[in-house]
Amino acid sequence: MQLIQTLQEMQALSQNWQKDKTIGFVPTMGFLHEGHLSLVEASTLQCDTTIVSIFINPSQFGANEDLSSYPRNMERDLQLLSSYKVDYVFIPTAEDIYPQFYRTWVNVEGISEVLCGASRPGHFRGVATVVLKLVNLVNPDLMFMGEKDFQQVAVLKTMLSDLNLHCKIVPCPIIREADGLAMSSRNTYLSGETRQQALCLSKAIHKAKQLYSQGIRDIKILLQAASKIIVDNNAEIDYIQFVHPETLLPVEIAETDTRMILAVKVGKTRLIDNAQLRA
Ligand code: PAF
Repeated sequence: MQLIQTLQEMQALSQNWQKDKTIGFVPTMGFLHEGHLSLVEASTLQCDTTIVSIFINPSQFGANEDLSSYPRNMERDLQLLSSYKVDYVFIPTAEDIYPQFYRTWVNVEGISEVLCGASRPGHFRGVATVVLKLVNLVNPDLMFMGEKDFQQVAVLKTMLSDLNLHCKIVPCPIIREADGLAMSSRNTYLSGETRQQALCLSKAIHKAKQLYSQGIRDIKILLQAASKIIVDNNAEIDYIQFVHPETLLPVEIAETDTRMILAVKVGKTRLIDNAQLRA
């Protein structure tokens, strides 16, 4: 496993990828957990070469968000990655990614402005910009991303397609703790009571799926049942929506591919989760 710390080194490598080899890329912000590692594993199984990037992207954090406290542990991350068949770990600096007088931003209209985009203005502009830069630098064939960030995957798929990039996204399933909590680096902010409360997201999903399996298709009923679980756990609903999986537009009647997607504040921690309603 080789560490790459400069953009020049990364470009020199990626310009010479062999045409007959598949290059897999796993972009991360570090503080790796089993969710990230499942993406790394998928890449090593499907690709000849795997590159993981670790970069806490400042431009996707709002002014009042957790950029300064975002968990970091590079030593542990590298240790974890060394047990997989990772070929390269790309660790650019913020100064290299966003040099002085940086001016170019990627905006994926519409789909970036709903759900998390409405609550976190500018977030997907930061994500799309950094991912386009990373894809240009790494030049991968496949990019492995977790479905926990369902909207992120939808935004980035749109960007790759709209900008005619050859890289394709491989969406990978959400990895959960044994009690149902979707894995996230931000789970480290939870402890004791808030860790218990955080289960309300997966419980709300479970309830909606249960009602769906009993034949209920009216979104109002699903929404009411899911909201009750969040409120009963003293958590704060940012949004709960039932959407079309590609357009992310809300639906009124649930169908087999309808995605339930929610963001909830537990104490000071904002958590997200989602699932397809049909089991
Ligand atoms: O999902 C993440 O960790 C980040 O949004 C990503 C894709 C690495 C871009 O900074």
